[in-house]
Amino acid sequence: ASNGNINVAIDGPAGAGKSTVARKVAEALEYVYIDTGAMYRAVSWYMIRNDILPEHVEEVEHHVKNLVIDLVPDAGGQKVYCNGEDVTTVIRSLEVTNVVSLYASIESVRTHLVQNQRQMALRKGVVMDGRDIGTTVLPDAEVKIFMTASVQERALRRFKELGDSFDITLEQLEKDIANRDKLDEEREISPLRCSEDAIVLDTTHMSIPEVVETIAAYCRAARDGE
Ligand code: DC
Repeated sequence: ASNGNINVAIDGPAGAGKSTVARKVAEALEYVYIDTGAMYRAVSWYMIRNDILPEHVEEVEHHVKNLVIDLVPDAGGQKVYCNGEDVTTVIRSLEVTNVVSLYASIESVRTHLVQNQRQMALRKGVVMDGRDIGTTVLPDAEVKIFMTASVQERALRRFKELGDSFDITLEQLEKDIANRDKLDEEREISPLRCSEDAIVLDTTHMSIPEVVETIAAYCRAARDGE
């Protein structure tokens, strides 16, 4: 890249710790972090609030075209805005989590968001996490990571992250995650798939700092042309 920056794609299944890791990698490189899952969540939140069901694809298409989703870096994370409204917290609710795969499988939703995501990566220097970044959104990303962990380990991580305020068992979380994997892998448009040129990182037995350091090292090597 002309400014010496590169783009970094981090893909993988739900709960692998992608967002935490991607944010920290971005921090380490002084790059911009883009959480594409948050964008699919914001769309889903908007559709739920306006009573637009995922089976009404034409109505979804009509609305998604005019939706403006902004990701704004913030101390320790990012804020998510949907048509100017702060939705950072509400998009993490189970109500949204349980239906986001349905909206994420609609072609017009993906077309609209992928277009936005490519726009954000034009100037390089981004770390983008999602499901289809290395395969579809940024096929030319200089570094592509596919982060995985066992279903059990991912459920446990999410369980700890949710804390006591959520009334859900570990067993239920395991089922939900396995179910979401299946929906994400089996959808027709841009399914969750490992890009052939991605580095596969199984993080089941790795700590967050270890994962961050491993990925940051690949990025520095690519950026500095080693
Ligand atoms: O990473 P997450 O749990 O916030 O993602 C929410 C949902 O969005 C998940 O079901 C998969 C979908 N998603 C997608 O289809 N493509 C992306 N690039 C990112 C997320």
